[in-house]
Amino acid sequence: MTLKIALLPGDGVGPEVLAQAVKCLEAVEETFNQHFIFKEASIGTIAIDNKGVSLPDSTLKLCKESDAILFGTIGDPKYDNNPDAKVRPEQGLLQLRKELGLFANIRPILSHSTLLDKSPLKKSAIKGADFVIYRELTGGIYFGEKKLNEEGTVASDICEYSESEISRITHLAFKAAKNRKRKLTLVDKANVLESSRLWRKVVTKIGESYPEVALDFLFVDNAAMEIILNPRQFDVILTENLFGAILSDEGSVISGSTGLLASASIGEENAMFEPVHGSYPNDKGKDIANPIAAILSAAMLLDHFGLTEEAMAVKKAVDKSLKKGIVTPDLKENSQYGTNQVGDFIAHNIVDIDDNFLMNDENIDLGKSTII
Ligand code: IPM
Ligand code: MN
Repeated sequence: MTLKIALLPGDGVGPEVLAQAVKCLEAVEETFNQHFIFKEASIGTIAIDNKGVSLPDSTLKLCKESDAILFGTIGDPKYDNNPDAKVRPEQGLLQLRKELGLFANIRPILSHSTLLDKSPLKKSAIKGADFVIYRELTGGIYFGEKKLNEEGTVASDICEYSESEISRITHLAFKAAKNRKRKLTLVDKANVLESSRLWRKVVTKIGESYPEVALDFLFVDNAAMEIILNPRQFDVILTENLFGAILSDEGSVISGSTGLLASASIGEENAMFEPVHGSYPNDKGKDIANPIAAILSAAMLLDHFGLTEEAMAVKKAVDKSLKKGIVTPDLKENSQYGTNQVGDFIAHNIVDIDDNFLMNDENIDLGKSTII
């Protein structure tokens, strides 16, 4: 298969982690005889500095012409701490999501058996947790009308949803639940918000056509508590944009590090894959950022195009790095391995499972040990 992949490294540690994801995709090309055409474009702070906008037209054009987009991270403290900034790096990402119609953001959350100690949560609570958040990505308060009065003393952001916006992601979430543990939890604030009541109505109606999936509801405040108290109860969580943003960061605590969480943003015609974590500007250039979220995002890209074996090979290589402790310092204090070395290890351990039985583990490790 030939795929055109747009690379958007973005800000902070984005370029470093994205480079590791690309290494892994190159290993997939070689091992599985696939063909990826990579083209890079700017977004975020660099684009603002060079072109005055976070999402240059040329970047948007490249994304539209590509089969998929691999995204790094976005955000810079010089804008975070300036509420008066007129142009912000995040605007580029939001505009890209909107322009490409990437309405469904899929964020899997797993507790890794090898990393149970890394989470500050009780092992007994998080062991075996395995759920996925379906976050609506192009509507709600992120995109509603924004107002600030002339005096700059009163501000508002509107949260608006239409039936069709709710319906398209709901179908995807039900389909996912059907193939998983057959449970869907709608997270909302229907005891207060009109928009949440519409979500409940639409989701309940659609649920009738998925009788094999158990549907339940949680208010977002309660869900925030349940996610860390008893995460094993969840299978698919469906929620609106802002709630999904908040709950997915919270959920990352279960996995042991936000550096592990991958995501896919899917639309009717385009798809983008990006780590859930932020740009960590303080870690930029230090070769310490965890590349696994970016690498697992690349695995989601492969899955999206039906390259299931390839995706599995990437996930297996990631598991191996976790098991062997070849990880960045966020996962192992004083780890001697950097972003690049972890990326190299994972890329070199991407093997075709069919060939795998011919090679013993020792050989693979030995072969790679020169690289690390
Ligand atoms: C995310 C990010 C974005 C969001 C920011 C960078 C606008 O935090 O994808 O979670 O809030 O959606
Ligand atoms: Mn976020």
